[in-house]
Amino acid sequence: MRALQYRTYGGPEVLEWAEAPDPHAGPGQIRIVVRAASVNPIDWKTISGAMSGGEPMLGTGYLGYDAAGVVDETGDGVTGVAVGDDVFGRGRNTQAQYAVLDSWAAKPPSIDWAVAASAGVAGETSERGLRLLDVKAGDTLFIDGGAGGVGAATVQMALARGANVIASSSEANHDYLREIGATPVRYGQGLAERVRAAAGGPVDAVLDVAGKTPVEDLISLAPEPSQVVSIANYAAGQDGARVTGGGADSQPMQALAQVAELLAQNKLVIKVQTFPFDRAAEAYRISQSGHVRGKLVLVP
Ligand SMILES: NC(=O)c1ccc[n+]([C@@H]2O[C@H](COP(=O)([O-])OP(=O)(O)OC[C@H]3O[C@@H](n4cnc5c(N)ncnc54)[C@H](OP(=O)(O)O)[C@@H]3O)[C@@H](O)[C@H]2O)c1
Repeated sequence: MRALQYRTYGGPEVLEWAEAPDPHAGPGQIRIVVRAASVNPIDWKTISGAMSGGEPMLGTGYLGYDAAGVVDETGDGVTGVAVGDDVFGRGRNTQAQYAVLDSWAAKPPSIDWAVAASAGVAGETSERGLRLLDVKAGDTLFIDGGAGGVGAATVQMALARGANVIASSSEANHDYLREIGATPVRYGQGLAERVRAAAGGPVDAVLDVAGKTPVEDLISLAPEPSQVVSIANYAAGQDGARVTGGGADSQPMQALAQVAELLAQNKLVIKVQTFPFDRAAEAYRISQSGHVRGKLVLVP
């Protein structure tokens, strides 16, 4: 098969769409013929070497953490899904012709492959953030970084729970935030004041998606420091906020089932821009710029 790969750390120019060994489904896993795989910031962080802990590059690296496609192998112990089913979900090395998924849900028939592929990491991360913050109907949630992959999914998944959502973005994305149901505020100096003014009352929870605002500013908005959860500022824990990286606090199968239902009901709509696999570098460059609206997706 072909897979997106790199042999040396660097920028998007190190990417190659080239031959790779076929993966196979292990116990509890499925393999899919990939119809679309999304780009997440962790992909360009990985090729840059930032995730390597200072270790030199050994062998070939592969990329991608979510995808949508047609099941063509099921591993031992897998139930409830069969060869030929259309699914989306999360795995490793998904930016390839075949990918192994560790968690998945049935793709709603009305949902495009690229949209379904976008919902794996973004959807699971959103579900996790909202669950950790216990966001309920009537709560006011502030999302710092609401227009990108995780942010836009979280806006809509919080609205589906009946929450009021205030979200930050650049001015250029304010209309987009309004379109998906959030009250937009500009990020940067004075952010906390603007959020307070937009909330007009207490803020119950803060999800830090971008990891760029000083955590003390975010904590000043919340009823207590632990009601700030960050997915991108790993130092935030020192100030009493909570940090989640998706280990033991992740419930991926339940999260993806919830995401599939919201997609089917049009309560979660994901704006996508697609690129063929052999033009992945263009998508990576846009992702690396840090100003994505919705999701970037690679397709065969
Ligand atoms: N811990 C986890 O489990 C987990 C899971 C998934 C992702 N992540 C991390 O979470 C981060 C976001 O992921 P993503 O997929 O949503 O990224 P993305 O799609 O690239 O979106 C980034 C968003 O950040 C916004 N932004 C840029 N500068 C900002 C600032 N100073 N303040 C507030 N917002 C700002 C941008 O809005 P504008 O375009 O309007 O500037 C853009 O919409 C990445 O660092 C990623 O690695 C962590």
